Amino acid sequence: MLISLSTWKHGFHPNRITYDALLAGRSALDAVELGARYCEADLTCMSVGRGGIPDASGHVTLDASIMDHEGRCGAVAFVHNYEHVASIARRVMEKTPHIMLVGEGAEQFAEEEGFTRTSLLTTKAELLYKEWAKQPDKLHVRLRRAEEGEHEYVFVSVDEDGNHTEIQRESVGLPPINESHDTIGIIGMDSEGKLAGACTTSGLAFKLHGRVGDSPIIGAGLYVDGEVAAAVATGTGELVMRACSSFHIVEMIRQGMAPEEACEVAIQRIARDKQLKDDMQVGLMVIRRDGAWASRSLRPGFQLAAASKRLGGANQLYNVTEKSISLAKEA
Ligand code: GLY
Repeated sequence: MLISLSTWKHGFHPNRITYDALLAGRSALDAVELGARYCEADLTCMSVGRGGIPDASGHVTLDASIMDHEGRCGAVAFVHNYEHVASIARRVMEKTPHIMLVGEGAEQFAEEEGFTRTSLLTTKAELLYKEWAKQPDKLHVRLRRAEEGEHEYVFVSVDEDGNHTEIQRESVGLPPINESHDTIGIIGMDSEGKLAGACTTSGLAFKLHGRVGDSPIIGAGLYVDGEVAAAVATGTGELVMRACSSFHIVEMIRQGMAPEEACEVAIQRIARDKQLKDDMQVGLMVIRRDGAWASRSLRPGFQLAAASKRLGGANQLYNVTEKSISLAKEA
């Protein structure tokens, strides 16, 4: 039973790559890694890999994790000079007794493993950073709450009374709306019914230097149990970390809950977070061991790409609304 799911519109092409790899007989682990690598190299996606939006000190730093059906996992965080962090995470999983390497240690490991060192900061991202840095106290990038359609990064100026006024995207060199999303999470099931997942990101735009989000944290951004389900999260990492959302979903399914219900309960838990703000979003996706899958987001605007046998192999983009998307068990 072949299935691949990827978060956001920027997951559309990576999901095709993942599904094609599954069709070609590759393992779910190989397939999700290939999809992640595609997105990491896609310069139009400014929230994953090279070309990502820098942190508050002007550095692009990447986080990633990967996990297979046997519960093996690897992760890296705060990586400055290597593009394919999901692959480095896989190498941590396969070649070390550890789960996570960060910063300098992760880079040293990547170098020893033969990964290519590269600058992650593109001219476009640097220009964006320079505009932001001109007035860091007054100019903020926010993930605006959309009434409908996609969420988008917008610049707003804040006056002395705290009133926000949107500034034209073009005037500060912001990328088009459809390039401004978040982490990519990919989960898949291969022809042997094995599950795997990968999660990779440049994290929150203009985050504090050193900040690490949910994506490389096993159980927060990603969790796979080959006997139960694979789950992934995207959005405001701090919300996902406080709720251990991916682990939470898989554990609820283990107790017998349906995927749709498990996503709903996990989202409701996040909705009760005392630090939740209007401009925060979270998207969750899960594939159960029998092929049933579901997704739920905190607010409208979350999209996912899905390809499966039941969908005739077509890669489709779904808008996840207030209601979960859920497909019945595949034949
Ligand atoms: N979900 C990505 C992050 O918060 O870093």
